[in-house]
Amino acid sequence: MCGIFAYLNYQVPRTRKEIFETLVKGLQRLEYRGYDSAGVAVDGPSKTTTDINGSTICLIKKKGKVKALDEELYEKDSLDLDEELCTHFGIAHTRWATHGEPSALNSHPHRSDKDNEFVVIHNGIITNYKELKEYLITKGYEFESETDTEVIPKLIKYVYDNRETDNVTFSTVVERVIQQLEGAFALVFKSRHFPGEAVATRRGSPLLIGVRSEHELSTENIPIQYNSAHFKDGVQEKNSHNSVGDGRAVEYYFASDASAIIEHTNKVLYMEDDDIAVVIGGKLSIHRVNRRAGEDPVRAIQTLQMELQQIMKGNFDSFMQKEIFEQPESVVNTMRGRICFDSNTVVLGGLKDHLKEIKRCKRLILIGCGTSFHAAVATRQILEELTELPVMVELASDFLDRNTPVFRDDVCFFISQSGETADTLMALRYCKNNGALTVGITNTVGSSIGRETDCGVHVNAGPEIGVASTKAYTSQFVALIMFALMMSEDRLSLQTRRLEIINDLKVLPELIKKVLSLDEKIKAIANELYQQRSLLVMGRGFNYATCLEGALKIKEITYMHSEGILAGELKHGPLALIDKDMPVIMIIMRDGCYTKCQNALQQVTARSGRPIIICCQDDPEMTKNAYQTIELPHIVDCLQGILSVIPLQLMSFHLAVLRGFDVDFPRNLAKSVTVE
Ligand code: F6R
Repeated sequence: MCGIFAYLNYQVPRTRKEIFETLVKGLQRLEYRGYDSAGVAVDGPSKTTTDINGSTICLIKKKGKVKALDEELYEKDSLDLDEELCTHFGIAHTRWATHGEPSALNSHPHRSDKDNEFVVIHNGIITNYKELKEYLITKGYEFESETDTEVIPKLIKYVYDNRETDNVTFSTVVERVIQQLEGAFALVFKSRHFPGEAVATRRGSPLLIGVRSEHELSTENIPIQYNSAHFKDGVQEKNSHNSVGDGRAVEYYFASDASAIIEHTNKVLYMEDDDIAVVIGGKLSIHRVNRRAGEDPVRAIQTLQMELQQIMKGNFDSFMQKEIFEQPESVVNTMRGRICFDSNTVVLGGLKDHLKEIKRCKRLILIGCGTSFHAAVATRQILEELTELPVMVELASDFLDRNTPVFRDDVCFFISQSGETADTLMALRYCKNNGALTVGITNTVGSSIGRETDCGVHVNAGPEIGVASTKAYTSQFVALIMFALMMSEDRLSLQTRRLEIINDLKVLPELIKKVLSLDEKIKAIANELYQQRSLLVMGRGFNYATCLEGALKIKEITYMHSEGILAGELKHGPLALIDKDMPVIMIIMRDGCYTKCQNALQQVTARSGRPIIICCQDDPEMTKNAYQTIELPHIVDCLQGILSVIPLQLMSFHLAVLRGFDVDFPRNLAKSVTVE
């Protein structure tokens, strides 16, 4: 987790205040990745008026959200906010604590020593930090934080102090450092020894670079420079075709994701694992120690299509609420250009070249975590029905714990909103090593899962900022349904079934709007429930996943205990929880499980339970037995889960607001879980 942001202005005069504003805004965009503490490192006061880069580094760190840091920045008397810095490199970080409690000391940037010779920001986890720390302690280094990250600045100072030659470059030192690191990282370094220069690298954690220039860029395809010989000073000057920027004014933005960059530029470069990006004299070049077989020898500057407005809250009080209400539109974006409602055909461009291979496979394995796993559970049944293949659904962590057997004739799907979830990414690498075909279902272009899978579908839900996933779930759901439809296009016996699904997908956005119009009613129910300690959500068949997902939404943002219960399991234990005081939400739709769900309903009412029932419109049987009903428009059974989850998203939202919690930033959680 954690968000990284850094800003380099080269020959573009900016006051220190403007630099702070840019860094803080970048962090605010990334705050969903963690919000325990935040910090920045900028150049301190210059020694002389001509020493524009300054030779000191000032670190400012604060426990709490970015807002707290923002206030702190302007309280440093020693910093002249109006001082103009023509070339400057500032780094910033928002933290989600993994090693060490949330505190200013444990915040990033971390430093090499009291003189701040090297400072670094890190997203990820260093698994061999204990060994490195022990070694560095024997060399006389003193540690001030409890973090794994702190070994990195200490190590870079150690490497720098023990350099063999005086004209060692910043990137050479970083290269040596990362050779010692195990785990996952995205790192950005700043140093007093290399003022105005930036070095960034990644392995397993995301990092991208935005470029803004008034001039045309010297290249949009940067050839990678291999081996450290290229790192020597001067080589970049001579080989300007190997770098972006030609010594004229330019600005660079380094960030964990594009939402922090898009308001400055839409020109971005996605770094690959083990790339080292270097900016010297305003020129950006990419280096690698070794060339990997089959690797692309260039990194392209791409043009982002995302708009800033897509990542703003609009008229809503929270991102979560906005994202819930965006669903009529986000599902259209998932289907756009993929379903032809005239010919009833579905083409997923990212999969079509692999379709034959997928059809020949022995089994489908759907892998994800949290909400993304629930999308797999929700679509499993229709996938089994339309592909006529065995379908396994797996929680990534458990799948790995079991060393699950995977074979060459398996097709493995990796479902992930962020595309960066460590457990899912590890499961992907595991399946690849076992020879399976890998398919990504992601919402983040350029994410690790998107890039490492053999093929995939981008769900196009738009940026999801609220920590609790909502629109990504319904879009993942639709993407998997489209896959099932594509697989069954040539099966005569399945055409009637396909047709009813395609017809209902066409009206899905309108039906979602109808469900959203129940918001006031749901808010009123939430008003009755918000002081309760527990809330059970029960259903079966196509709605079992809705129960799991609804309960997850409730627990993660309201902090109430909530359980998703398979109605078929009720009498095997959970029934003991039912009495007149236990709030229960039941999902009972007119589908193949209707009669069985009615049995569960009777068991609940017989124990004086007072169920709130999510049911089909005009079902007098439900109105008669329910304490309250939430009535949904009719839709084919396998798409019901898209509609039935929305009242639970809204319910969790209202409960959290009524209980006084910040729905976008639930405690202890982060949007992108890049640690195992
Ligand atoms: C819950 C939630 C999480 C994520 C899970 C996987 O609202 O958002 O359960 O679904 O951490 O994240 P992704 O989909 O990014 O792999």
